[in-house]
Amino acid sequence: MNETIRLLRAHHSSRSYKADPISAEVLEAIIECARRAPTSTNSHEISLVVVRNADSRARIAEIAGGQPWIAQAPVFIAVIADLYKTGLGVEKAGARQVFQRSLEGVLAVVSDAGIAMATLMTAARALGLGVVPIGGIRRDPQAMIDLLELPANTFPVDGVVLGYVTEESSQKPRMAIESFRHEEKYHPQALRPAIDAYDLTLEKYWQKIGRADGLTWSANMAQHYSTFSRLIKSVAHNQGFTIEV
Ligand SMILES: Cc1cc2nc3c(=O)[nH]c(=O)nc-3n(C[C@H](O)[C@H](O)[C@H](O)COP(=O)(O)O)c2cc1C
Repeated sequence: MNETIRLLRAHHSSRSYKADPISAEVLEAIIECARRAPTSTNSHEISLVVVRNADSRARIAEIAGGQPWIAQAPVFIAVIADLYKTGLGVEKAGARQVFQRSLEGVLAVVSDAGIAMATLMTAARALGLGVVPIGGIRRDPQAMIDLLELPANTFPVDGVVLGYVTEESSQKPRMAIESFRHEEKYHPQALRPAIDAYDLTLEKYWQKIGRADGLTWSANMAQHYSTFSRLIKSVAHNQGFTIEV
């Protein structure tokens, strides 16, 4: 099998790391890949903040709700939606940026953040590192803004932990292909059977790896998606993302 395809199909998040440092060359190679990634209208609206300082990583672990792997691994990269940078270009060209006040602006920059995240993770894994994406920083975005000294019109969307793993974790099963790949039109009838099967698959998976607290997919969704954080809206609003249109 082609090596890139093999690597992508082998994806799994790792949450157990050695403290071994990542060399400057390896880190630079990973970041260069993300810099080459596409952005909407060539906006360059993503910036990365590379955090190696142990106290800062410990603080981020705390901000993210107590995630020890952030403190354990040597590098955390915060992926920043950066409409401060684009605003400088708009201003230089004699106009006033309003993009941060639109839902389209938020969708565009968050799409670009996702591409940057995926690129960072693929490049890191290609160089023998383990990774785990971290959305937990959005539990307290203001604390991240303060820690990283982020300016107006920026927002810490996600982050990724990079490091050498102590032991490889197993691959989490996915829902059946019919729930993901639709031909020509969306076919909702495929979903319920796929969800029922996946709930059973995950139950067995948690038993196999000895995780007594593992939830079915449906229960996990109920836990996370039956509520939402109001904090994000107010912090994003203070940063300039007002979403008026
Ligand atoms: C945008 C994003 C944010 C995530 N945030 C966290 C996080 O804060 N902490 C964590 O341990 N895992 C986090 N994850 C990892 C998911 O839980 C994980 O990808 C999912 O359970 C599937 O497992 P796998 O990556 O091992 O295949 C995140 C994943 C994504 C894509």
